[in-house]
Amino acid sequence: RHCFTRGEDGYLYCEGLKVEDVMESMEERRPFYLYSKAQITRNFEAYEEALAGLPSPIVGYAIKANNNFKVLQHLRSLGSGAVLVSGNELRLALRAGFDPKKCIFNGNGKLLADLVLAAKEGVFVNIDSEFDLENIVNAARIAGKKVSVLLRINPDVDPQVHPYVATGNKNSKFGIRNEKLQWFLDAVKAHPNELKLVGAHCHLGSTITKVDIFKDAAALMVNFIDQIRDQGFEIDYLNIGGGLGIDYYHTGAVLPTPMDLIDTVRELVVSRGLTLIIEPGRSLIANTCCLVNRVTGVKTNGTKNFIVVDGSMAELIRPSLYGAYQHIELVSPPTPDAEISTFDVVGPVCESADFLGKDRELSTPSKGAGLVVHDAGAYCMSMASTYNLKMRPPEYWVCIQSRIF
Ligand code: LLP
Repeated sequence: RHCFTRGEDGYLYCEGLKVEDVMESMEERRPFYLYSKAQITRNFEAYEEALAGLPSPIVGYAIKANNNFKVLQHLRSLGSGAVLVSGNELRLALRAGFDPKKCIFNGNGKLLADLVLAAKEGVFVNIDSEFDLENIVNAARIAGKKVSVLLRINPDVDPQVHPYVATGNKNSKFGIRNEKLQWFLDAVKAHPNELKLVGAHCHLGSTITKVDIFKDAAALMVNFIDQIRDQGFEIDYLNIGGGLGIDYYHTGAVLPTPMDLIDTVRELVVSRGLTLIIEPGRSLIANTCCLVNRVTGVKTNGTKNFIVVDGSMAELIRPSLYGAYQHIELVSPPTPDAEISTFDVVGPVCESADFLGKDRELSTPSKGAGLVVHDAGAYCMSMASTYNLKMRPPEYWVCIQSRIF
């Protein structure tokens, strides 16, 4: 059940559309992102199905993963909330029509002006530090509104991921450590006109592929919530953040689904009468999109073979930044005489860090052939730059099917 599939003719299709035909129809020859709207719907529904039976859960889509306005409007129309880490993400979410009661403003460096907007609009705000609490109190006074806050707890759980995307462990810059919990509870108590404590939040990291990690964290979090409730706070929300990984390797390995994730925390949530908030980014949007590139040429240096394409680290930086693997395929089927070799797939940017994939077995493509990088819906366009004065790529979506069958 996936939007990008190979047809019987050997060509790659997005929903019912041949990717090569999409390339041919473009006036401008440059890399572009291609989405399937039906896949976005399908991914959101997977979370809805997983959450069925829980009382008023909130899915807060992490906008940092992909802030395309159409994508936001579509997710909002399906019932999604939004998770924001900057004033501009907050403004964009409001413009896309997200219900402020389903929005959470996160972050370790939120600015006063943005907090004032959050207070005025009535979105949930996470407290990340002592100075953050001070800013939220000031924002509440300026806005003349009481702010519903969650404490972002750092539960010190190892998410077993690349260190750059681990956030809930001891030395991370995010959240509040256990030892300081009492200080924050006292500070909230001291500001009854400005702050209403409604819940606790954690986010462990990203690309997590073992759901037991969420289970351990949820158990720790419920423990914190018990301590907080013991002091007379009536708090309702447990926010377990985002972080579920996806099958970047396309090996067919069975990875945990949203259902597996929710099932590991369901009992705990129900036992304490809590309302669950989750903040998925990647698992909602990554597999809905490819970066479509065109082959500029093929070369060999020493013992290395290179496929040079028009896309690069400017359009898609995850391989360069995290050594991330994203699956690469040619759009058309190989010709019978095409030789299969091991290639590095690289862009034209003036850096040796500029690669989209290393050591990939591919049939030797001809000039102008289409080459896609899969799972490019999350943290690709939103992290694209204009390095070397490349233009940020256009984005198109296919909306032929209403469902992925
Ligand atoms: N909530 C919070 C507080 C977060 O910091 C994040 C992601 C999410 C939710 C969504 O996590 P997801 O479900 O997408 O894993 N640029 C990196 C990923 C950075 C993730 C930052 N925080 C990458 O390309 O892998």
